[in-house]
Amino acid sequence: MPTPLRFKEGAAPKTGATSLPDGLREGETRESFEQTVWPAYLGRFSSRLAGLFSTWELDISDHLPTLAMLTVEHRLTRVVELGVRRGASTLVLLESVARLGGHVTSVDVDPCEDARSHVESAGLGRFWTFLQGEDTSPEVLGQTPQAIDHLLIDTCHLYEQTRREFEAYLPKVRPNGFITLHDTEMAGVVRAISELLEANPSYRYYNYFNSHGFGIIRKVLPGS
Ligand SMILES: C[S@@+](CC[C@H](N)C(=O)[O-])C[C@H]1O[C@@H](n2cnc3c(N)ncnc32)[C@H](O)[C@@H]1O
Repeated sequence: MPTPLRFKEGAAPKTGATSLPDGLREGETRESFEQTVWPAYLGRFSSRLAGLFSTWELDISDHLPTLAMLTVEHRLTRVVELGVRRGASTLVLLESVARLGGHVTSVDVDPCEDARSHVESAGLGRFWTFLQGEDTSPEVLGQTPQAIDHLLIDTCHLYEQTRREFEAYLPKVRPNGFITLHDTEMAGVVRAISELLEANPSYRYYNYFNSHGFGIIRKVLPGS
């Protein structure tokens, strides 16, 4: 198992403490990290979301600042998200595109009523389209944008499904656009990514090994 990464020395929020090699500070537990340090990180970006998320049990929390950074720094305005659940990634993507005048289209088989109500109460509804349905169904595919800057895949993490999602959505991702995936430690996801990269050697791939894995693929075309 790789050592979980938290943050590098010197990059910690200004709480006065020095980070230990694993990123946790003296006397800090995973729980206290989730309650204090991580919200402080995101709090610089959005104190509203940090307050909300500090009360949730989240497996994707460590990767949310990366989602925000990618969106804002690369100005990824046309976002499609597969897998919403309670809406943690959704809210971060929405907060990010709201700064750019962009739009997020999210898909989930479930109605995701919690997420919908959080998006509404955060006043982010005008930046969002929610589609309920199986993400590779023709009905859903027909309603998702033709050009995507950033595709986030976080659904069931099975090989066949991930492969189908790649087949259905990757043609819509623009050249140099991003595909991100949570749970890249899952065997099915690893296999689907490996096959994709083998078939497309010009694509670039970066993977965070912590918190179940978070992969970033850049759709770089040959010769560019
Ligand atoms: C891991 S959760 C998503 C977590 C979310 N990204 C977050 O930040 O908390 C996976 C979600 O994918 C949905 N899902 C699973 N298979 C799906 C499919 N084939 N099409 C659409 N949604 C799917 C599930 O209903 C579930 O809500």
